[in-house]
Amino acid sequence: MGNPGSKANLKGLVLAGGKGTRLRPLTYTGAKQLVPLANKPILFYAIEHLVASGVTDLGIVVGETKEQVIEAVGDGSRFGGRVTYIDQPAPLGIAHAVQVSREFLGDAPFVLFLGDNFIKEGIAPYVERFRAGCYNCLVLLCPIDRPQDFGVAELEGERLVHVVEKPQTPPSNLAVIGIYFFDSHVFDAVRRIQPSARGELEITDTIQRLIDDGLDVQAQVIEGRWIDTGRHDDLLEANHLMLEDLEPDLLGSYDEASTIQGRVVLQEGSEVVNSRIQGPAIIGERTRIVNAYVGPFTSIYHDCLIADTEISGSVVLEYTRIEDVGQRIEHSLIGRNVELRGHERRPHGYTLILGDFSKLHMP
Ligand code: TTP
Repeated sequence: MGNPGSKANLKGLVLAGGKGTRLRPLTYTGAKQLVPLANKPILFYAIEHLVASGVTDLGIVVGETKEQVIEAVGDGSRFGGRVTYIDQPAPLGIAHAVQVSREFLGDAPFVLFLGDNFIKEGIAPYVERFRAGCYNCLVLLCPIDRPQDFGVAELEGERLVHVVEKPQTPPSNLAVIGIYFFDSHVFDAVRRIQPSARGELEITDTIQRLIDDGLDVQAQVIEGRWIDTGRHDDLLEANHLMLEDLEPDLLGSYDEASTIQGRVVLQEGSEVVNSRIQGPAIIGERTRIVNAYVGPFTSIYHDCLIADTEISGSVVLEYTRIEDVGQRIEHSLIGRNVELRGHERRPHGYTLILGDFSKLHMP
């Protein structure tokens, strides 16, 4: 049923607005979609996957962090795409973001890609399938351990018959992931749904509306890894996943007193002095590592200083300085412009300036 229209000019719609409450305090000052995985913003992976699948006409929905997103992505030409920015006046839901993009999308079918979703192996086979098929909607699914936390799919063959949001008794272990394919029937469906209890126009309700209207909604279980990086642990996991395949590249400098072991990237202008880096690890541009140990699965972003400190399995964002910390820092996510300083002699007390929602676990 339905008129799928021409899929030759498939567009891409990437969502980079939202509230990001679960990622506070990082999201007080920055867009969550710009948090780096292996020193590259999550959002860039989404754009690159779309362009690599031949989807180059891209809309990016922006909210409060609009300026940062525009500064990072620009007109899209360096990714090989063309980007149109779309203002979402308030974060009223994923389906609302689709609704406000109507003018950009026109009647073209499109890929909706949530800008904080990470899919390691890309989307090319699914784009191909949607282009080739006569469906109105294609939903991607991933088997997961705790389906209770997600929208969960009920299937009949490859047809999606029901999506249940955070069910207590899940009908399957297949979570609906943040990459969807729609044709222009979606606008009519969004118009006819109501805001949910949390006051948002939900994409799951929209998909259910399409199903209930008798349109052809197909589902495909993805191969490979997917992570919704909405929470701190997910970000560290996605960073870990990207570092697993890190290609060594020593563009920065290191002195003779330093040891670089395993797969390590020293980005341009970085400097390692009297330190040990145990890969996989990446050190950002102009970052200095002095008398320090950087352990496996660590990403230190640009313009940081790590001195007289041991750090492992962690992500550090730009302009942060960590000096003389007595215990090893592990499994940590440290934001921008943070100062962490230990004491050479045992202190009588801690001196702290911590923002709202900071988390500090001290032995
Ligand atoms: P979510 O993670 O579902 O929502 P959120 O960003 O508001 O975060 P939290 O639940 O922690 O408060 O959003 C998924 C993606 O969609 C994310 O990249 C943000 C984007 N988004 C919008 O662009 N507009 C919106 O109205 C919403 C809800 C999300």
